[in-house]
Amino acid sequence: MTFVPLSAPHLSGNEWKYIKDCLDTGWVSSVGAYVTRFENALADASAAPHAVATTCGTAALHVALLVAGVKPGDEVLVSSMTFIAPVNAISYANAIPVPVDAEANHWQMDVDKVRAFLTNDCELRDDRLFNKISGRRVAAIVPVHILGHPVEMTSLMKLADEFGLIVIEDATESLGSTYFDRPVGGIGHMGCYSFNGNKIITTGGGGMLVTANETWAKKARYLTTQAKDDPQEYIHHEIGYNYRLTNIQAALGCAQMELLAGYVERRRDIHAMYRSHLSDISGIQFQAEAEGVRSNFWLTTIYIDRAQFGMAARALRQVLKDAQIEARPLWQPAHLSPAHQDAFKLPCPVSEDLFANCLSLPSSSSSSDQDIARVIQVIRHAAGH
Ligand SMILES: Cc1ncc(COP(=O)(O)O)c(C=O)c1O
Repeated sequence: MTFVPLSAPHLSGNEWKYIKDCLDTGWVSSVGAYVTRFENALADASAAPHAVATTCGTAALHVALLVAGVKPGDEVLVSSMTFIAPVNAISYANAIPVPVDAEANHWQMDVDKVRAFLTNDCELRDDRLFNKISGRRVAAIVPVHILGHPVEMTSLMKLADEFGLIVIEDATESLGSTYFDRPVGGIGHMGCYSFNGNKIITTGGGGMLVTANETWAKKARYLTTQAKDDPQEYIHHEIGYNYRLTNIQAALGCAQMELLAGYVERRRDIHAMYRSHLSDISGIQFQAEAEGVRSNFWLTTIYIDRAQFGMAARALRQVLKDAQIEARPLWQPAHLSPAHQDAFKLPCPVSEDLFANCLSLPSSSSSSDQDIARVIQVIRHAAGH
């Protein structure tokens, strides 16, 4: 029985050729033609004119928060239902996360709950927004487009405008997804992508910050290269970071970007296969795709109603594991994270429900139809079909 992974790297194009070029020419480190080419490819793909490559998506988020002017002690709204990286990045900036609940249909940051918090719990003083309960300034919002599906950005951007907040999209899981024909990641004031091994494309490890704001892009480049004010004399006025992507990784990224459209199609096909063969089972629901949205379906995820299905999500995970199939629950919501006890706590019942009952299924673009058919068969069998 072959192992079916959740989301594996898929290296099927010019990866060897471009990496060999780096080795042959000696351009292996953090400057080189592939870095620039990869940045240009992401600027094109996100329709944001400026892109700055980073060592990883978490680094891109950290720098974006600093560039946005988030200061120690500020509060930053973030999706509660997310992998923990953006919440960690908020903490690296010595800011306080405010995890916001998910909505029940698409499982993204609930913009109505953002509005309720900003309207009821915050007040504007001299054009700055303050949380009336904690007394802290509220500086930014980090909507995380989880599993490839976008947050409702039109309403979120209107709210940000009304309350003077900077929006940093965590688009790490949603490269290639669109929202009313706009690329996800290029809609907010800044957007961040990740290219780690389980993402839709990979550079081994890597990230990118994109923005339409040239000043911010320059600042991001400055901070990611140790904040060199005088590169001859090595004078630094600010604390910088060594967050630059290498040319070798960027070479991998250039090859992967040539394949992105096909990989999105394949993940969407896999999603369609699951949907058409599992939707009739009572107790299984899919993440709905919102109107105007084209998700990359990075990870197809099902919600399991334990009573109707006859088994809890984590028990089904074990059944799949026994059949050499990798599946996993969603992430512990940020407001429950023991590592983030200082977060400003809002109720997040939907995120808790999703955490208890969701299971992400194998979605690799390299998986064959036979692999996916086997996953379907095991789930149908577990449901007694
Ligand atoms: C939602 C989210 N944000 C941020 C990251 C961080 O990206 P990286 O692993 O490249 O630091 C990831 C993935 O790892 C992620 O899933």
